[in-house]
Amino acid sequence: MKGIILAGGTGTRLLPLTAITSKQLLPIYDRPLIFYPLNTLLKAGIKDILVIVSPDHSGNFLNLLGSLFRGFGINISFIVQKSPRGVAEAFILAEDFLDGESSTLVLGDNIFEDDFTEAIQTFSEGGRIFAKEVPDPERFGVVEFTSDHSVLSIEEKPEHPKSSFAIPGLYIFDHTVVDAAKSLLPSSRGELEITDLHRYYLEKRSLDVRVIDGAWFDTGTHESLFLASAYAREHRLGERFHPMVNDALREFNMEFKKIVSLKK
Ligand code: TTP
Repeated sequence: MKGIILAGGTGTRLLPLTAITSKQLLPIYDRPLIFYPLNTLLKAGIKDILVIVSPDHSGNFLNLLGSLFRGFGINISFIVQKSPRGVAEAFILAEDFLDGESSTLVLGDNIFEDDFTEAIQTFSEGGRIFAKEVPDPERFGVVEFTSDHSVLSIEEKPEHPKSSFAIPGLYIFDHTVVDAAKSLLPSSRGELEITDLHRYYLEKRSLDVRVIDGAWFDTGTHESLFLASAYAREHRLGERFHPMVNDALREFNMEFKKIVSLKK
């Protein structure tokens, strides 16, 4: 199982913050946002991770993550998405990286408290999505499902949702996802939509779903970014990261301080 973090995009809803940096580099309490999806993948045992970034901010991602896990047995690769042509394009960009293996894709602006180890280890084929009960499902992609985890329907921001379960930004697919993504047509907004990819697997009856526990934040707005920071501080999310991530961060900070003192 390989991992992909989609950390491009334009972040227009977060302007002016995103006029100068990437959304995924903005702080969530004591660390850049990207560390949360990164931790989610590493905690689930994924050791080979591709970070997809936009051309404007690629250098910053490389400076932060390029050698962070040197010596920890973790491989982080980067690829540039020239323009934000949709979430499903990630799998086309990742074709060589995936090299015929299954993958877990996490959106770079999603924060999960839950652990995905079991869901990833028990995955065998097709696609697996997740469901989180929310009070306002009409704002999200909504999934309707049976008690044995089979998906019945998927709707994008429905006026009258068939369930109260939103689909968060973490998806598991087998190797067929690259060809599936290539078969999609751009939507009316010109993007290869992740919902269309889900529908592709739903039509083949090879999409299942797992309900997640704990907090989930999609930090696309100022309000959700703020709420995620407050939650991370109150619930000490950083301290609960995989110890390897916190060790790597401590080393990074020490090295950074050393370089700063040498410059003085
Ligand atoms: P969105 O929040 O849908 O898009 P955005 O980040 O560009 O923000 P806005 O709508 O405010 O302009 O994207 C969800 C995540 O996926 C986010 O982490 C950015 C990433 N993304 C890409 O990397 N490439 C893409 O083509 C798209 C559509 C999103």
